[in-house]
Amino acid sequence: MDKLVSSWYNDQSLPESYIFPPHERPGKLLVPRCNTVPVIDLSDTRSNLVHQILKASQEFGLFQVVNHGVPPNIMSETMSVFHKFFELPAEDKASLTVYTNDPKRCKLVTSTLDYDREKIHLWRDVLRHPCHPDCIEFWPRKPLRYREVVAACSIEAKKLGLQILELLCEGIGIEHGYFEHELTEDLLLGANHYPPCPDPSLTLGIPKHFDPDILTILLQEHISGLQVLKDGEWIGVRPIPNAFVVNIGYILQVISNNKLKGAEHRVVTNSSDHRISVVFCMNPAGNSNIEPAKSVVTAINPPLCRGFQFKEFLDNFYSMEGDADLALQPFKL
Ligand code: OGA
Ligand code: NI
Repeated sequence: MDKLVSSWYNDQSLPESYIFPPHERPGKLLVPRCNTVPVIDLSDTRSNLVHQILKASQEFGLFQVVNHGVPPNIMSETMSVFHKFFELPAEDKASLTVYTNDPKRCKLVTSTLDYDREKIHLWRDVLRHPCHPDCIEFWPRKPLRYREVVAACSIEAKKLGLQILELLCEGIGIEHGYFEHELTEDLLLGANHYPPCPDPSLTLGIPKHFDPDILTILLQEHISGLQVLKDGEWIGVRPIPNAFVVNIGYILQVISNNKLKGAEHRVVTNSSDHRISVVFCMNPAGNSNIEPAKSVVTAINPPLCRGFQFKEFLDNFYSMEGDADLALQPFKL
């Protein structure tokens, strides 16, 4: 395991191995933190919500939700627990950075799991673990309230995700309850820590990608960094207090037979502030069958791919260095 970037960021200029090729760099241009990413008020009427969420998912693949019913103290305690986690002394985090391929275990890595083979490193550390109750015994023991707080937040995130999926089902004509069991069985947590960066114009926290899941529910604070690609332009996702950011995952795009659009997004760094984000990824069980939903396939909208197991897609995704389009290629019709 290579050293966490958070343990040395302060005493170095940007090492060569973090410099992205010119066409991928964020450059000097400050992307405006504009208001154009849709913000959806979940206390609106159901028919308005179905309409707005569908529109946002088709146009951006990403939107924010407010008045979602998740208690604000659960959100603030979760952020606070992750601040404390990332501030722990190295010896407290050491056991989590040991290499393991047991999927139930918790992993703390810098950049990606593929650090040793990747050409360019990402300016972040990330803690990942499944949220299933069977895995809680492997979660961090410190800070003291980690397990209690993160369990409460993951239950809320899943509830919120399922509520949004129901609205989307209604919007595109997929039967009620389609996503309720196998397709959202594995909730995975990723907590990203992006320390201040000596040269944000040359590197990235995460380069352009689709999330390889059904839906991602993201919690951030007042520090910006997340951007979404819209009509060839990068747009900043303005932090809003107590909002969640919702991303349409690539697998949901497949199931909707391209009626919904997965969001291509990236994370830029900044030179003054630590940024922490917490993502809850709603994933299908590894052996579940993914295919365009029968109810959205018609003669004029034929299926874009054959059925496949989610784990087959994930294997391709990781061997293609996180390129979702390439990972889907073998299944395309
Ligand atoms: C991710 C991701 C965004 C962020 O973890 O896949 O896109 O703001 N994170 O950290
Ligand atoms: Ni992402």
